[in-house]
Amino acid sequence: MTVLQPAPEVVRTARTRHYVMCPPTHFEVVSVLNPWMDPAVPVDRDLAMGQWSGLVAAYQGLGHRVELLPPVAGLPDMVFAANGATVVGGRALGARFTHPERRPEAAEHRRLLAELGVEVHEPVHTNEGEGDFAVVGDLVLAGTGFRTDRAAHAEAQELFGLPVVSLQLVDPRFYHLDTCLAVLDDTTVAWFPGAFSTGSQQVLRTLFPDAVEASEADALAFGLNAVSDGRHVVLPATATGLAADLRAAGFEPVPVELDELVKAGGSVKCCTQELRGLR
Ligand code: ARG
Repeated sequence: MTVLQPAPEVVRTARTRHYVMCPPTHFEVVSVLNPWMDPAVPVDRDLAMGQWSGLVAAYQGLGHRVELLPPVAGLPDMVFAANGATVVGGRALGARFTHPERRPEAAEHRRLLAELGVEVHEPVHTNEGEGDFAVVGDLVLAGTGFRTDRAAHAEAQELFGLPVVSLQLVDPRFYHLDTCLAVLDDTTVAWFPGAFSTGSQQVLRTLFPDAVEASEADALAFGLNAVSDGRHVVLPATATGLAADLRAAGFEPVPVELDELVKAGGSVKCCTQELRGLR
């Protein structure tokens, strides 16, 4: 007699993470670096601080470590710590920002990382850190088209000794890779295909046949600007459809409110730089 067995549930395992974050002490929208920014729309800095503190608490509640980068007056986008560097195996590729407004942030990151014992490398080409570099297991995905120079992809490959796959971004609303692709674990991503060129869509489908595809509405809600520890996926509360899809795929969505920061074109992942390979 054949007994029908239920399909085994996918077991998702969390790994403790180590992050760098910077409080939005000097947060404001004064220039237009991406289509989300409108200096005519006022920002509520206290609200931004409250929401950002909620994100820190969410990480700490999940058992992750958070290092704080001291905020600097006159650098209103510094809260978006993901852009300041990319750290893999205890080595950092420092950032070199596209816009002059953000360039001084890179040195602040380099100083903190050096203090933390990271071997910091000065970049030659323009790259906006984890805004455009996503580490998926032993592979690095790299965005280009709006900010990070393609030559920086080769620079990262040489420094980290990991294969770097270049992906072409085509929609200005999704100007950084981390606005349209989220790393869920060492082999799984979630993404919004419409943000990528046809060729890059094919590459991602080949590499990640089990990827979670987000709707345009969830992508516009910054749902893919998410941070996963392999099991818990911290994402904006407004991305409800994606949260349901993640749950169906065996992940645990952890919704947080971060809308005040969306006024500058960023959310969860933008605020979070991961330190990989540090003791
Ligand atoms: N206003 C910032 C900029 O345009 C937002 C950066 C968001 N960061 C990110 N990792 N996507 O540079």
